Amino acid sequence: MKEQHDNREREPSRFLVFSASLRNDSLNTGLVALAASVIKKNGSKVSLATMSEFDCPSYNQDVEMKGAFPAGAEHFRQQLLANDAVIISSPEYNTSMPGNLKNVIDWVSRFRPQPFNERHALLMSASPSMVGGNRGLWSLRIRLEHLGARVFPDMFSLATAHQAFTPDGNLSNETLAKRFEDNIIAFMSLVEAAKHYPCIKKAWVEFWGEKPDPVTERVE
Ligand SMILES: Cc1cc2nc3c(=O)[nH]c(=O)nc-3n(C[C@H](O)[C@H](O)[C@H](O)COP(=O)(O)O)c2cc1C
Repeated sequence: MKEQHDNREREPSRFLVFSASLRNDSLNTGLVALAASVIKKNGSKVSLATMSEFDCPSYNQDVEMKGAFPAGAEHFRQQLLANDAVIISSPEYNTSMPGNLKNVIDWVSRFRPQPFNERHALLMSASPSMVGGNRGLWSLRIRLEHLGARVFPDMFSLATAHQAFTPDGNLSNETLAKRFEDNIIAFMSLVEAAKHYPCIKKAWVEFWGEKPDPVTERVE
């Protein structure tokens, strides 16, 4: 028993990290690059992805019924399954998450087993505004928690992000840089603990029906 535990301890945790912006000079992509370097520096593995890899045509249930899932959704699913946790840095559009991110979440939520269930997630945002895109993270958080993801309580939002980076891509404010690193390290500790000491698994309930009925009640 002890030997098995020790073997698992040697395997580093794996983090899928991506920015939900498609823009070339994205502030969120800048934040994601920094997150990836903190994770690697602290001994875990990073799969750095881009939103363009996951981008999908608008969700259409007729297409889903034919089993024709878009390649972006299939790729996102594979990346979720291949990693222990996901870190998303998302722009805030009109106080919510970008439509393309919600769209791929909708597509991926239709796979069974449902891939967000029990996946650890850390949410970050960057925006030129004073709130740093934090309102968009609350909209994202609710959807991921609904899908059974374990969303880390602390979220990191970078305000006035257009002025926050040094030319080499670090955060110029030392206090903020430390808070950012501490946030990621705390998340890494939780993922590491959950990997080696899994807690009791709960059922994922998509929505409750009034009575047991496969149409209105789907429980995994
Ligand atoms: C359609 C649209 C809506 C936006 N709405 C918000 C908003 O509600 N709050 C905010 O802080 N910034 C908003 N912005 C500004 C974005 O935060 C800004 O463009 C940011 O740089 C986008 O992230 P990126 O640099 O990673 O692409 C909006 C931008 C667009 C294009």
